[in-house]
Amino acid sequence: MTLLEEPDFGTPPKAGAPTVTVDVDGLPVVVPPGTSVLRAAAQAGVDIPKLCATDSLEAFGSCRLCVVEIDGRRGTPASCTTPVDDGMRIRTQSPHLERLRRGVMELYISDHPLDCLTCPANGDCELQDMAGEVGLREVRYGYEGENHLDAPTDTSNPYFDFDESKCIACSRCVRACDEVQGTFALTIANRGFASKVAPGPTSFLESECVSCGACVQACPTATLQEKSVVELGMPSRTVITTCAYCGVGCSFKAELRGTELVRMVPHKDGGANEGHSCVKGRFAFGYATHPDRVLSPMVRDSITEPWREVSWEEAIGTVARGFRSLQERYGAGSIGAISSSRCTNEEVWVVQKMVRAAFGNNNIDTCARVCHSPTGYGLKQTFGESAGTQDFKSVALADVIMVIGANPTDGHPVFASRMKRRLREGAQLIVVDPRRIDLVRSPHIEAAHHLQLRPGTNVAIVNALAHVVVTEGLVADDFVAARCEGYEEWATFIASPENSPEAVEGVTGVPATTVRAAARLYASAGNGAIYYGLGVTEHSQGSTMVMGLANLAMATGNVGRDGVGVNPLRGQNNVQGSCDMGSFPHELPGYRHVSDDVVRGLFESQWGTSILPEPGLRIPNMFDAAIDGSFRGLFVHGEDIAQSDPNLQHVTAALASMELVVVQDLFLNETAKFAHVFLPGASFLEKDGTFTNAERRINRVRAVMPPKTGKSEWEIVCEIATAMGYPMAYSHPSEIMDEIASMTPTFAGVSFEALDKLGSIQWPCNAQAPSGTPVMHVDEFVRGRGKFVRTAFVATEEQTTRRFPLVLTTGRILSQYNVGAQTRRTGNVAWHPEDLLEIHPHDASERGITDGALVTLASRVGETTLRATVSDRMPVGVVYTTFHHPVTGANVVTTEHSDWATNCPEYKVTAVQVALAAPVPAGVD
Ligand code: SF4
Ligand code: SF4
Ligand code: SF4
Ligand code: FES
Repeated sequence: MTLLEEPDFGTPPKAGAPTVTVDVDGLPVVVPPGTSVLRAAAQAGVDIPKLCATDSLEAFGSCRLCVVEIDGRRGTPASCTTPVDDGMRIRTQSPHLERLRRGVMELYISDHPLDCLTCPANGDCELQDMAGEVGLREVRYGYEGENHLDAPTDTSNPYFDFDESKCIACSRCVRACDEVQGTFALTIANRGFASKVAPGPTSFLESECVSCGACVQACPTATLQEKSVVELGMPSRTVITTCAYCGVGCSFKAELRGTELVRMVPHKDGGANEGHSCVKGRFAFGYATHPDRVLSPMVRDSITEPWREVSWEEAIGTVARGFRSLQERYGAGSIGAISSSRCTNEEVWVVQKMVRAAFGNNNIDTCARVCHSPTGYGLKQTFGESAGTQDFKSVALADVIMVIGANPTDGHPVFASRMKRRLREGAQLIVVDPRRIDLVRSPHIEAAHHLQLRPGTNVAIVNALAHVVVTEGLVADDFVAARCEGYEEWATFIASPENSPEAVEGVTGVPATTVRAAARLYASAGNGAIYYGLGVTEHSQGSTMVMGLANLAMATGNVGRDGVGVNPLRGQNNVQGSCDMGSFPHELPGYRHVSDDVVRGLFESQWGTSILPEPGLRIPNMFDAAIDGSFRGLFVHGEDIAQSDPNLQHVTAALASMELVVVQDLFLNETAKFAHVFLPGASFLEKDGTFTNAERRINRVRAVMPPKTGKSEWEIVCEIATAMGYPMAYSHPSEIMDEIASMTPTFAGVSFEALDKLGSIQWPCNAQAPSGTPVMHVDEFVRGRGKFVRTAFVATEEQTTRRFPLVLTTGRILSQYNVGAQTRRTGNVAWHPEDLLEIHPHDASERGITDGALVTLASRVGETTLRATVSDRMPVGVVYTTFHHPVTGANVVTTEHSDWATNCPEYKVTAVQVALAAPVPAGVD
């Protein structure tokens, strides 16, 4: 499509029914009470000139360009700050108003560079547009007076410039940072003529700015401008697509000039993000064209040989012959595949289909195994569906928000901005996390309670919270009686003294009084909402903890309406989708067990093949079997298991012992070091398909450019299956979605056509819910009655010892993403060039460690070296790091412990020792 310019109604919409009728230049319009005159006029199709107003921000009323005349009122009120009254008659044009507006514009233009023709924003500048709109033809004051034309340009941010000379001090950037992003990085410094936008005392790069770009988007001039626009020029066409980083699933307008992507602008109609973004989605797309990308298939006979570029035919033939040969020699179960939560639903579907139909086994697993598999298990057991309960919007109606084991401002930044907005409006916050995450205290936000528990004691804490609810009479009896089962037995268990906050205080490290206060706050909230992340799932009791959260929500009646719920914040862009698509060895698509004869029969008849009724191998079982010699070949689709999985020595030993490892990826990643065939993948900018975000929202991914490798990933998979003797072919990914819909009840109403029409759809989408389901379990749980499950706390086997006296826990940082394969190849390295080990001042001083010192981090399985940052964010005895850089290889130290139900690795608890690294001898790099 040509460049999509979204309408700007000037001020945000007001909730409520349209009941107020006004007349704008003779045109009647009916709007909700509280709507501004500016917005009402825009809705009537009348554009009033404006500069300081935009509909993502509350009205400010500083520029006075939007003045109007209103019958019965004196003067010329600003339409952006004037709410409508029933029967109001508004005039937007008159000679007097025109004079006033021209006067305003004259003042602006007299202090503005007159370089429109060479300005990067030429054609996309509201100041330029308004000068034209008000008919400005001359500037009577001249241009010689005192001005700001020599003001400097701050180019420190890798993605945008701040050219102060063009600033009209409208404050839209400051308000965008405050209201939309919630970072409060900008201020208007000084007063009067000297007033100017300031990102703190120094530069944008050194300020609190998190580079979300909201200010750039809000700026009506070229003051804040993307460097890519300066370099490439204004874009001329738009493709609407979805971010491929995290599970928030933000919609973007990819804006191109010819075939070149100029910038990504968050889409206002995007259901997940509503026009906002973070630094990754908006700016960090340069990896897609990075020279490191491999664009030709490559093969080699052994991993010690150099790669040899080959044709697609040869590569696919090598894979198919190799896998068939292994099956002939070692049996049908000797090969398998790992699908990717980074890939589209359609790609994941064909991978699992290839395994079940062409490989003839169920040896398919997914990287969700190592993150949110306990979510799938725990929510299925209790609620009956392996997915979060709410849409993101729902948080706007929460009264108490409990954030457990998640760090939304880094991991899910656009959702964090929504949450922070609600917290600034007065919702209360409970944070349960060993680390003092930013949300605990940030501008205008302070958690009511921070339960700074010891890693590994989640279940003890959730049981203690539930204990208080049950023993202090805080249970939502009516809800429980009407909608749940198993309550009596569970209540007896949870009320027992060993689950009291006092009994577990010694284990968790959280004072009983704090637990009691937090439980009372959550239970007495009108709407209590739980949001959680990998700090819940990546534990030996990950599944137990998910069920514990479900119990807590049911006991307090916090399920089944807006503002409440149990909400996993998904890590990867399509982790929900990859699970939905049947990527687990025990489940066919739609979370239906392979042992179910009816379901298996459906797949067998549609696919014309037989499917084994027994589950296949999980990822850790594949590794064990590889080392044992019975598992010989693996197809790894878009996942870097040699960096992301725990106990890397074991992983790499397993990879090295296989005869055929096939890697499909953008880059020669760590796993590719063990591969015999490398199939180059396509970036999200080259893909057509869908992603499903944490809200179960299916979003379209549209190709911005054709695959640089000449082939789509789904085509490659189909060709491998075909070459192995099971023909698979589709003419377009929409056909794959049609197959998904025909075989998966929750997707029954989903098609590319429906998605194009509705924008996005939250599953279940079927005859009962043709537009999808924003909130689940409304009248009854998917399983009928919500089931209380006993959740006894069992301490992890990973215990500190004299040799390994500290506990390591891991997480993410905003600017980097997972193993960093993409973000490390973008300007984001400006913020996080290496993984750091956070260590408490007490633990640091005991070891002679100072800020910035190189330290060794050792566990019983491995050792690595990284730089320390001394910080009291962690409690004494706990250290923290990220795993974005392969050079650190933080997962070298994580262990083989895993969740009892799903094998999700226990990344969050590793007993370690930290010591000063031996000094590097002089002259050695
Ligand atoms: S980029 Fe985002 S965080 Fe930075 S100043 Fe602009 S709005 Fe604030
Ligand atoms: S930088 Fe842009 S948005 Fe901010 S005050 Fe100046 S002109 Fe307005
Ligand atoms: S919040 Fe997540 S989905 Fe949205 S732009 Fe950032 S990385 Fe992309
Ligand atoms: S747009 Fe109304 S005062 Fe600026």
